[in-house]
Amino acid sequence: MRVILGVGGGIAAYKSASLLRRFTEAGHTVTVIPTRAADEFVGRATWEALSGQKVPDGIFDDVDKVNHVRLGQQADLIVVAPATADLMARAAAGMADDLLTNTLLVAACPVFMAPAMHTEMWSHPATRDNVGKLRSRGVTVMDPASGRLTGTDSGPGRLPEPEDIYDAALRVVESPAGPLTGSSADSLAGKRVVITAGGTLEAIDPVRFLGNRSSGKQGVALAEAAAHAGADVHFIAARMDVPPPAGVRLTTVESALELREATIAAAAAADVVIMAAAVADFRPAELSGSKIKKRDDGDDPVIKLVRNPDILAELVTQRDQGRLPKSTVIIGFAAETGDDGSDVLGYARQKLQSKGSDLLVLNEVGEGVVFGQDESAVHILSRSTADVEQAAGSKNDIASAVIARAAAEMDGR
Ligand code: CTP
Repeated sequence: MRVILGVGGGIAAYKSASLLRRFTEAGHTVTVIPTRAADEFVGRATWEALSGQKVPDGIFDDVDKVNHVRLGQQADLIVVAPATADLMARAAAGMADDLLTNTLLVAACPVFMAPAMHTEMWSHPATRDNVGKLRSRGVTVMDPASGRLTGTDSGPGRLPEPEDIYDAALRVVESPAGPLTGSSADSLAGKRVVITAGGTLEAIDPVRFLGNRSSGKQGVALAEAAAHAGADVHFIAARMDVPPPAGVRLTTVESALELREATIAAAAAADVVIMAAAVADFRPAELSGSKIKKRDDGDDPVIKLVRNPDILAELVTQRDQGRLPKSTVIIGFAAETGDDGSDVLGYARQKLQSKGSDLLVLNEVGEGVVFGQDESAVHILSRSTADVEQAAGSKNDIASAVIARAAAEMDGR
């Protein structure tokens, strides 16, 4: 396979030398196109020695070979690693101001990008938009890894390990729909999907709150899978540990009551509602207007809790009463453990009945499982069949399975 390895100007450029080796050792012919900024980090001699190929110079060198068009046209795969914020911005804007961006503009082959940058840059709305644009045009943009960055700071933004980039890039060539394989590219074309995610935060006073450990990762993966399936996604985010997905309509909320209001409003125009948010079942009965003080002369405070509305159950009631279209597909999530009274599927089946949703995605939980983890396994229960579907793997794999199931549920109506 003819591979182009585009190297952006980031400190992680040195890791691309290992990535290059992976490709050449597997027998692929790799041409490296570093940006000018990448030259500041790794010398061209390194790329030439490891690839056994001349590194093409700029657009105006070897003009007779028409490099700026030929390289992109002939490639079977383009991998950009590290993809810096600047490089993705130029690619998203369709600029052609150096050989790499020219090549990206003429490429007809799969394009794969592995970003690396500081967390603030990755989370910035400009970068989120650019990533969303690139993804919507079929470019596969990996999520960066989390961990130590260039300085003493850490967070999402690290270049994923070369072997992970290699494996993911090859999967894109093998299955051009990208890593989100379960949901076909247009199974939700034109459909409006509302997804809630993260954990609600219930204020006690102006500085304290009750919260939960939901990371929001599963909701983000669902939004990306739904967008990949062609849906118009409205993402309602409570508190999350990860940035919201790119290229979706975003509403942010804090409490269960705010989430309820936003979700009920959004559901009116939705074909599918997915309640992936971890909604606090209780909130403090009273919100103290000032910070609750510790007092040595009195009793410690007692915080009385009251029940929050069950948003999922309310959506179903609204649909039953005709305030939402009958065709709206409503999907809930549940975290359960089995015990002496019943096994986990028994409890999930009871929950599906009591909530009345069309599907219930069941996470079997134990200590340290599910919350914040990258891999998990779920059972998908449906009200219309006794069959239980299993899905396991990364949150993306699970999201794809849920979205594919949601699309099938819509077809059956
Ligand atoms: N949910 C909701 N409103 C609530 C509580 C939960 O809409 N007030 C939704 C969640 O978004 C999720 C599903 O209901 O889709 C989970 O149901 P829940 O009964 O909260 O599940 P568990 O947390 O597993 O419940 P419990 O502690 O009651 O077993």
